[in-house]
Amino acid sequence: MKASDLRNKYLEFFKQKGHKIIPSFCLIPENDPTTLFISAGMQPLIPYLLGESHSEGKRLVDAQKCLRTDDIDEVGDEIHHTFFEMLGNWSLGDYFKTQAIEWSFEFLTSEKWLNIPKARLAVSVFAGDGDAPFDQESFDKWIDLGISKQRIAKLPKKNNWWGPAGKTGPCGPDTEMFYWAKDDTPPAEFDPDNSNWVEIWNDVFMQYYKEEDGSFKVLEQKNVDTGMGLERTLAVLNGFSDDYQTELFLPIIERLEEQTGKKYADNQKEFRVIVDHIKAACFLIKDGVVPSNKLQGYILRRLLRRAAIKLNSLKESSMDILPKLIDPVLDIYSDTAYFKVGDWDNIRTVIEEELNKFQRTLNQGLREINKYTSIDGKTAFNLYQTYGFPIELTLEIAKEKRQQVNLKEFEEEQEKHRRQSQTSSAGMFKGGLVDHSNQTTKLHTASHILQAALKQVLGSFVGQRGSHITAWRLRFDFNFPQKLTDKEINQVENLVNQKIAEDLTVHFDIEERDRAITEGATTNYGENYPEKVKVYKIGSEGKYFSKELCGGPHVEHTGVLKSFKIIKQESVSAGIRRIYAVVE
Ligand code: SER
Repeated sequence: MKASDLRNKYLEFFKQKGHKIIPSFCLIPENDPTTLFISAGMQPLIPYLLGESHSEGKRLVDAQKCLRTDDIDEVGDEIHHTFFEMLGNWSLGDYFKTQAIEWSFEFLTSEKWLNIPKARLAVSVFAGDGDAPFDQESFDKWIDLGISKQRIAKLPKKNNWWGPAGKTGPCGPDTEMFYWAKDDTPPAEFDPDNSNWVEIWNDVFMQYYKEEDGSFKVLEQKNVDTGMGLERTLAVLNGFSDDYQTELFLPIIERLEEQTGKKYADNQKEFRVIVDHIKAACFLIKDGVVPSNKLQGYILRRLLRRAAIKLNSLKESSMDILPKLIDPVLDIYSDTAYFKVGDWDNIRTVIEEELNKFQRTLNQGLREINKYTSIDGKTAFNLYQTYGFPIELTLEIAKEKRQQVNLKEFEEEQEKHRRQSQTSSAGMFKGGLVDHSNQTTKLHTASHILQAALKQVLGSFVGQRGSHITAWRLRFDFNFPQKLTDKEINQVENLVNQKIAEDLTVHFDIEERDRAITEGATTNYGENYPEKVKVYKIGSEGKYFSKELCGGPHVEHTGVLKSFKIIKQESVSAGIRRIYAVVE
């Protein structure tokens, strides 16, 4: 089976079941301070799972671009990759458990769809505990569909429960589907610890809300959230234990073999890291990330530098092969809407500039190493932190120079740093909760007013190139060739404050996408929108100050923002400016 078959079949199946196909959201979450990247299909849909109405209705299906960097160091084995696609279908307070399970089963086993023999399937359901009962309904449904009792594992929260990530939020039991991936007769009994049973799909039944005091309240709107990892499922259905053998990776591997003269079979770990990282980098750059020392930019930098180092370790001074791998990445996704003709140039430029910078850093790092006769743990860690020297590289160079490296001290330093950064990212998304506090909602509305004000003051060509909101400030990126003068900053600030003082109403209408755009609603650069969209309007009919395609939520009146202040402006990259602002 081809990737496009699996993706298209999934979308088509659920379309036939009354779902609307929606495009993948951008990899960088908008208005969500709790996370750097979209790491599950449901994440950008959380507002709708919490009751916000969606322009396309209550049944949705998509293939969502995701990036997980938690286990970036694990990349190198058969199944880890940072970038992946998650196929998912959603019921926003519409159908529930039995219907979801019935459709999952039909899609997996029907001849018309995946045609998986029932004998190769097993499932797990929530066993129940003090917080919530055993999921009898799901269990009964699987029995009804002909899955034998021995093939249904009853597992605890650790395995069969999803969300919330933070202290509070929507959550519920899930039922997971497993495929016997070995080419023999599967055992009659399902053993979830046997790695030949590979999880391919997960149906989450969001029926509870975890309260501050730890109790579970039954949710009024019961949702279904499902997730099928495209790469993993494609691999097992094609009989591969190695995801990198699928057509979603193989063309990049082949190009790399051609360019380095090395074989994948002899250098699997290095190949996988390079191939995964270049692919993830292409997607990040496409979604507007530029290498930097902060947040998403830092991850992109790390991916590119690690790939470059691995290239050098495969073949001396071969870092400049990296841009040659962009082509096969874009080819792999040529039948999707992820990349457009013309993206290549920008992706290549960003990667080449970063490699040049890295080359300079490497040279400095080498000079640094030359200063020592032996390298203590702190220095080795500093080389890693500051110059991006992985410890293997430091060890290698040190060996050549007959220097000693104190590995134990290095590990202690690394552990110390890991603990520190864990504390600082403790509030980040781990799979479930987005902050929709009043303050972030206010800042979200402020971003719309700001965008309209920038267009009015600087010119209508100005548009959003990125946005990020935390509970205390908004960050807004836009295209503009030079630094804003004090006068321009004042004009923008005053205009936003004027619109706040006018206490304009904020509301949305659901409209046809193309029509809304033709009639002048603002869209965000690079974003794909479903056919029906929500258009948020600020002001009164006939003289809207702002009309923007957006999922919400927003405040109802601009007056609640009280006052708006720009606290900083900076440059992001050539032609892109960034503004930080707060509301009172
Ligand atoms: N949220 C669940 C997951 O990520 C199902 O989509 O697996």
